Amino acid sequence: MHVAVIMDGNGRWAARRHLPRTAGHRAGAKAVDAVVTAAARAGIDTLTLYAFSADNWNRPPAEVSGLFTLLRRHLLTQTQRCLEQSIRINVIGRRDRLDPGLLQSIERGERATLHCSGMHLRIAIDYSAQYSLLEACRRLQLESGIDKSRFVTCLAEVDHAAVPAPTVDLLIRTGGEQRLSDFLLWECAYAELHFVNCLWPEFDASAFEEALAEFARRDRRFGRIASQPEVRSNHG
Ligand code: FPP
Repeated sequence: MHVAVIMDGNGRWAARRHLPRTAGHRAGAKAVDAVVTAAARAGIDTLTLYAFSADNWNRPPAEVSGLFTLLRRHLLTQTQRCLEQSIRINVIGRRDRLDPGLLQSIERGERATLHCSGMHLRIAIDYSAQYSLLEACRRLQLESGIDKSRFVTCLAEVDHAAVPAPTVDLLIRTGGEQRLSDFLLWECAYAELHFVNCLWPEFDASAFEEALAEFARRDRRFGRIASQPEVRSNHG
């Protein structure tokens, strides 16, 4: 099962406490740890977290650099914890605009956990689904006989994904907004959407388990009627 999370609400969490936005992101990083552990414990195969979108470059430079420092530190400190839980780290998104220090910690975290066979933890940094789809089309334009499998392989290459992008089963978004914000648009074709009002730093293991319980009650039909067996897409 693949769960994807849009971790929204760090800024509002901080504002309510009269704290700088970066304090909200720091609190958000703690929620990340709790949810990663809960997901691994629940037997989730892949967890993809939206840490920094391509559009987040438009935020004030101090917030952007604060986030990158936090991400870099988090990768450095959490690699050991991932190793203990056999979690494989993979950062998806563009790498050509990241600073060398962050890039180095990404490569180090990925290399150290390469052999881990437990949960796949994907962190999206400088990610835009529209960019990825467009870039995959650009790379494939001279090929003939492109099918879905070839497209998905190319998308994984564009995203620096360790394995071809698995389809998302459940997409969680905190913070009260109900939108996809350019996240995993291809992979979410049949995702169940779970929107919660709580702000990301308040989201914890029990909120994650509640999202899984709610997902288990959903009736996933993939275009069929309720009594038919589940057969995935018959096109492409
Ligand atoms: C959205 O909240 C959140 C982000 C843009 C950053 C997400 C980053 C983290 C949760 C921390 C670090 C991540 C990892 C993987 C260690 P917002 O700032 O848009 O909140 P707002 O809508 O209340 O302003």
